[in-house]
Amino acid sequence: MTQRTLVLVKPDGVRRGLTGEVLRRIEAKGYTLVACELKQATRDMLAQHYAEHEGKPFYEPLVEFMLSGPVTAAVFEGERVIEGFRALAGATDPTVALPGTIRGDLGRDWGLKVQQNIVHGSDSEESSAREIAIWFPGLA
Ligand code: PPS
Repeated sequence: MTQRTLVLVKPDGVRRGLTGEVLRRIEAKGYTLVACELKQATRDMLAQHYAEHEGKPFYEPLVEFMLSGPVTAAVFEGERVIEGFRALAGATDPTVALPGTIRGDLGRDWGLKVQQNIVHGSDSEESSAREIAIWFPGLA
């Protein structure tokens, strides 16, 4: 079943120069890049993107962190790419994400109050359709 997923290299990943490494791992796994652009998120985009997390304790710090610099937004395509990318990304907390994953190999806790975990990936087909419309409104 061919799917699309939205991948974000978050501001920490862009600042650390990890965009190429992240995209390389996804392409090496065999998924196809269909869109990619460096973008500065707006509060409005993030309110839509993180709507399901509004009200949680980490919501405001997460939004501020996502506004702290540009992100690399990308859309990848392939069979079961949504779960495939989430497996490549690893666990949400980079300290315990398994070695071999993007977060496990490249991330750690930097002692700040936000989860700086390098990447985001859509978690369902419904989310990916919604998120792709936010980040790439022109993409069919
Ligand atoms: S996942 O796998 O990263 O999408 O996981 P999830 O646990 O569902 O988390 C949803 C998003 O919230 C972020 N998050 C946090 N940010 C800051 N502090 C804390 N404690 C925290 N817990 C979860 C997590 O990184 C996810 O962001 P995105 O951008 O969707 O990856």
